[in-house]
Amino acid sequence: MRDVIALDGPSGTGKSTVARGLAQRLGFRYLDTGAMYRAVTWAVLRDGVDPEDAAAVTELARRTRVEVSMDPDRPRVSVDGQAVDREIRTPAVTVAVSPVSATPGVREVLVAAQQELIGVGRVVAEGRDIGTVVAPAAPLKVFLTASPDARAHRRSRQDGTTDHRSTAADLDRRDTYDSTRKHSPLRAADDAVHVDTTALDVNEVVQRLVDLAMERGIGERSGVGGVTPEPPPA
Ligand code: DC
Repeated sequence: MRDVIALDGPSGTGKSTVARGLAQRLGFRYLDTGAMYRAVTWAVLRDGVDPEDAAAVTELARRTRVEVSMDPDRPRVSVDGQAVDREIRTPAVTVAVSPVSATPGVREVLVAAQQELIGVGRVVAEGRDIGTVVAPAAPLKVFLTASPDARAHRRSRQDGTTDHRSTAADLDRRDTYDSTRKHSPLRAADDAVHVDTTALDVNEVVQRLVDLAMERGIGERSGVGGVTPEPPPA
């Protein structure tokens, strides 16, 4: 758990972009755990399983092969050998992923897989429960937040829609679901550093996190791809 950075927070806080940028700066791998929940959800819809049927969803998660590439330049996800990068971003998956990711059996399967992928470290892992459940011993845990308005705007831009109101409603629905579910709700770890991204651009957030990583000696022993200190001001 030495070189593991846990990045949690609700959607629309810039988490994925920041996590990839941070991994690139540090020469670390990148793990998008949300993509894994989406991949299982895609399989649930593919097989016509009811997303609310916990037993059937768990059984399917156990026999579904979800593979991810952890290259921050080219994150990829496949299900049983089929690439599903675009398919997991459809509105149908985005709706059904809430009950699927609230299913304890699914979380058990995916958390074990995520812990194996994190392995010896040198990874930025993003999700909802990385600092609390997946990698509670990570030396740097960050919880990203942003105002509801900023989050809705970012998400609309990402989805290519101008309907902020329905985007905001969808974010609200997902937040409520993620934060109130019984099993591993979205919650900041007690020792997480909170970063409000409302007024910051991606580069500013990434720089903040690179500074935090340096302060904690994360990534420094590697040499190649490690953190390069900023030159002192002239
Ligand atoms: O980050 P995302 O929107 O791609 O995540 C998809 C869903 O998966 C989201 O609604 C919450 C859930 N999720 C989770 O429960 N735990 C994680 N570690 C990551 C995502």
